[in-house]
Formats: sequence, structure tokens, C-alpha cells
Amino acid sequence: MKIAAAGARAAGADVTYLDLRDLPMPLYDGDLETQQGLPDNAKTFKQLLLAHAGLLISAPEYNSGISGVLKNAIDWASRSTPGEAPLACFVGKTVALMSASPGGLGGLRSLVHVRSILGNIHVLVLPDQVAVPRAHEAFNPDGALKDPKQQASIEKLGRDLAEILMKLNRGHDP
Ligand SMILES: Cc1cc2nc3c(=O)[nH]c(=O)nc-3n(C[C@H](O)[C@H](O)[C@H](O)COP(=O)(O)O)c2cc1C
Repeated sequence: MKIAAAGARAAGADVTYLDLRDLPMPLYDGDLETQQGLPDNAKTFKQLLLAHAGLLISAPEYNSGISGVLKNAIDWASRSTPGEAPLACFVGKTVALMSASPGGLGGLRSLVHVRSILGNIHVLVLPDQVAVPRAHEAFNPDGALKDPKQQASIEKLGRDLAEILMKLNRGHDP
């Protein structure tokens, strides 16, 4: 994630780094929403999404699919508050996907699910994506990837997203 973010910054993007661990949310529950509205961290997450034109998402793979934490955050953020347009923080966003896992496929199978879910809520998901296999042995202590080609492909993913967003938003606010 940090390598792709650096690639986006180098291309001129203003990037906010978010770890979902810092915004814990209860499991989505319609009754809880009816009684209490959106949890504060879901509101914060939505505001962050609204403030950004695009997203780089690094998704772990759990049992060959999307992690519950990521799906739960998407589910909360998909809920409208009164007066807000449906899916306001997803419609028109552009996203690039990546994953890393100790397995041989690098979490690639989770990205199939993430891509499908985001596409169905009107997010433009870029065709290029990167999965880092054997992630537990792939990084140097300084956080860079040992394989320079892999490092370059992830930097490029961030750069490509930034450049596409600049083209899409030329002359418009994000
Ligand atoms: C419940 C669970 C299921 C997992 N299933 C898969 C899987 O299907 N494929 C895979 O490549 N890795 C799997 N993993 C390994 C995760 O991809 C790995 O934990 C992930 O990279 C997150 O790393 P981190 O916990 O160090 O952030 C699983 C891990 C857990 C905890």
C-alpha cells in the first residue's frame, strides 16, 4: 500500500493513508442503524471517501475471498444519511486494487470479489492490479520489495491511478 501511495504522490496526487484498523466498526446491523444511525467511525470513513477522487485498496484474502473487515466497511459506507444521494461516496470513484499474501497467488482471488462488489456500486475499477505472492519473504526490512520489477509495478499502479484521475478530473474539483 505504501509503495503504491508513494507512486501516486510522485505523480502529483494528494494521498491519505488509511488502515481500517484505525476505524473499527461494529458488524453491520440494520436494527442498530435504525436505532443509532451510522457509527462515528463509519461516518468518518464516508467523509474520507467523499473527500477523495480515487482509492488504492490493498485487500487481504481470507478463505479465497474478501475479508470481513473490508466488506463490513463497504457495507456501512454504502448506507445513505437523510438527504444524501444513494451510494454518494462510491459513485464515480476510480479504484486500483492490490493484495499481498503468503500464498502462491498473493491474494489474487480476493480481488475478484472486491472488483465485483465495487463495480456493482458504480465504482470504476482499473483493469490493472497487482498481487504479491509469498509476501512474508518479499520485503526488505526498509519496506521496499526485494524484486525491483515488483516494486516498479506497484509504484506504477499508484502512478497510473493518479494520472487517470488527473485526466478524468481535469478542470473539475475531485
Ligand atoms: C482466516 C484467514 C483466512 C486466510 N485465507 C487465505 C487465503 O484463502 N488465501 C491466502 O492467500 N491467504 C489467506 N490467509 C492469509 C492472509 O492472506 C494473510 O493473513 C494476509 O496477507 C494478511 O496479512 P496480515 O495479517 O499480516 O496483514 C488467511 C488468513 C486468515 C487469518
